[in-house]
Amino acid sequence: MTAPAADSPVLLRAEDVRVVYRRAGRRTEAVKGVTFDLREGRCLGIVGESGSGKSSLARALLGLEPDAATGRVLFRGRDVLTMDRDARAAFRREAQMVFQDPLGSLNPRMRAGDALAEVLLVHGRARTRREAAEQASEWLSVVGLDADYAPRYPHELSGGQRQRVNLARSLCTGATFLIADEPVSALDVSVQARILNLMKDLQRTRGITWILIGHDLAVMRAMADDLLVMQSGGCVESGPASAVLFAPRHPYTRTLLSSVPDVPSSLSRRFAT
Ligand SMILES: Nc1ncnc2c1ncn2[C@@H]1O[C@H](COP(=O)(O)OP(=O)(O)OP(=O)(O)O)[C@@H](O)[C@H]1O
Ligand SMILES: [Mg+2]
Repeated sequence: MTAPAADSPVLLRAEDVRVVYRRAGRRTEAVKGVTFDLREGRCLGIVGESGSGKSSLARALLGLEPDAATGRVLFRGRDVLTMDRDARAAFRREAQMVFQDPLGSLNPRMRAGDALAEVLLVHGRARTRREAAEQASEWLSVVGLDADYAPRYPHELSGGQRQRVNLARSLCTGATFLIADEPVSALDVSVQARILNLMKDLQRTRGITWILIGHDLAVMRAMADDLLVMQSGGCVESGPASAVLFAPRHPYTRTLLSSVPDVPSSLSRRFAT
């Protein structure tokens, strides 16, 4: 499989993005000036230890930290942090977050099909309930779930199936850019590989651009075209994933890598296709 072109147009450019939380007189610099380009159709992995600012950066990129984020986040050339209401509404359809815990982010009292139908109606993708239900079934099939799953409640689905519904819900707005924050860390290893393969397929067949946040370097090796390593709110190293993983320049990246016993062989075991 070939990686998406490294010279496709830049979809998102982060320039000196900072996130500073102020709460009860305390000031936390969660992100300390991160700059990178993400090209269309590629998957950027963001790794770093717990508390290094990965989720804060992700929220800032989606315009979800209006009080804490500064810098520039250019999406198709327009700054997410300062865009007007109309531009923001369009951006919200195109850029979506996928969370780690699908049970926590799905409404327990809503059937899978209805959860998708609601999003389709809210975003104006469907005009009638009936149209929304039809489209919901199509989106379920895109993520590998047949029509039998539409009437199921979240507790009637496995963790992997819930994450599929969650992905469908993010995609059905017409999203082309997804940020997945630890999307598989709550799942069994065998299920992880299937969800990651689905994400890879969506990248390949639908041209979805991803940011994938995680701790697991074997996952990053399998998924990421580019990699950004964070430490204490800053970016210590970034570049093509193969270069960062196999010829890391920064001592912190080397430390991260040395904590994974054998990246290539653990990979081939887990992601053999
Ligand atoms: N809403 C908030 N208010 C105040 N401080 C916050 C908030 N969210 C995160 N922080 C702090 O910002 C820093 C970065 O947190 P963040 O959640 O972005 O890290 P992370 O890399 O996503 O960690 P993890 O791998 O554990 O998810 C931490 O010190 C955290 O305590
Ligand atoms: Mg996080």
